[in-house]
Amino acid sequence: MTTQAGGLRGVVVGESEICDVQPEGNLYYRGYNIHDLADHATFEEVVFLLWKGKLPTEAELAAFKAEIVAEYALPEGVLAILRDFPTNAVSMDALRTGVSALGMYDPDTGNNTPEANQRKALRLQAKIPTIVAAIDRLSKGLEPVAPRTDLGLAANFLYMLTGVEADPLYVRTMDIDFILHADHELNASTFATRVTVATSADIYSGTVSGIGALSGPRHGGAAEETMQMLLEIGSPEAVDAWVRPKLTGEKRTPIPGFGHAVYRAPDPRATHLREMSKQLGELHGDTKWWQMTTNIESIVDELSNTPDRLAAGKQGIYANVDCFSASCYYEMGLGMQLFTPMFAISRTSGWCAHMIEQYKPGQKIIRPRAEYVGPVDQTWVPIADR
Ligand SMILES: CC(C)(COP(=O)(O)OP(=O)(O)OC[C@H]1O[C@@H](n2cnc3c(N)ncnc32)[C@H](O)[C@@H]1OP(=O)(O)O)[C@@H](O)C(=O)NCCC(=O)NCCS
Repeated sequence: MTTQAGGLRGVVVGESEICDVQPEGNLYYRGYNIHDLADHATFEEVVFLLWKGKLPTEAELAAFKAEIVAEYALPEGVLAILRDFPTNAVSMDALRTGVSALGMYDPDTGNNTPEANQRKALRLQAKIPTIVAAIDRLSKGLEPVAPRTDLGLAANFLYMLTGVEADPLYVRTMDIDFILHADHELNASTFATRVTVATSADIYSGTVSGIGALSGPRHGGAAEETMQMLLEIGSPEAVDAWVRPKLTGEKRTPIPGFGHAVYRAPDPRATHLREMSKQLGELHGDTKWWQMTTNIESIVDELSNTPDRLAAGKQGIYANVDCFSASCYYEMGLGMQLFTPMFAISRTSGWCAHMIEQYKPGQKIIRPRAEYVGPVDQTWVPIADR
């Protein structure tokens, strides 16, 4: 029997038509290679693909985008709740509570039909960026910026953070980042959303479960930890002295932004963000953060992927999706408190795709078993005698 200590690694708990993560370093959404999507698609196209199972035609995409922008604005009641949060609230806690409140304002509350769930998914995808941007501004004592319905999800999100239209390279980087983080099969937060809605709970309850699971540093917090590491190291020249002892001492210390629970080869998502990190550095005339990250990659590769270690059955260690997203975000002036909420903006698309799939008829409630290993045959002792 698989136990909790095994973390359900390698256990297949069901079938899905949404995302194929292959340990040898391949990733597909609905059969489309992530490299093609990152190179050619927009985030909205990918959301359509994830939810409806096919790429949209031009007319379908235009209609879908129009539906999304029409849902950008938040109900006044939700804004009032966000305004009430302490300014030092943890951003993921604030997002969790904001999304929970949003569910009570949805006109389809209580309606769990497939059509209503597509509408609710669309509202979640449209409004979560507005919540994240409002939380960020309110935490700084600034007024939220109203969304711009002439901008797509990535451009509008960046605009709402500052009130100024972002550089086109920032917008494309954000769009690619959203595409790359959109789905990743049964990661912890997506599994949490499916467990929740398998009880026929509503899609907002599922999304709140997903946000809660994502908030943990072992899931959504890796980009922030990577940036903290880069800031602590400080310069490309200081990388060697910082990283090498972590991987050569008695006990190896995991380097943030490296390794993956499924991939045993380079994470295909890192390729695109490595390039964007370099381009952003070049735009600003200083590629220091990109250079530092690639220097770390070289040392991790030298000390982890040795013939000896691999022959001994150790897994190869490579940069994961968060390795270069950290420096991309930092180059775009995005504060570290935004890193995990931005992951949530993107992953909302995957969460909703999986919840929509989970709601299909014939799906069972998810109820595994635990192997009982506690004490047995205990004798009842009255409370006064304990
Ligand atoms: C993601 C992660 C939890 C997956 O871990 P895992 O598959 O369970 O791997 P394990 O923790 O069992 O480690 C297996 C081996 O790989 C090494 N390893 C794993 N991640 C490593 C990392 N980030 N840096 C260096 N070595 C690493 C371990 O040292 C271990 O080697 P050892 O047996 O010689 O000590 C892990 O790689 C990690 O903590 N990464 C850093 C955090 C991160 O970036 N998370 C985001 C993932 S998208």
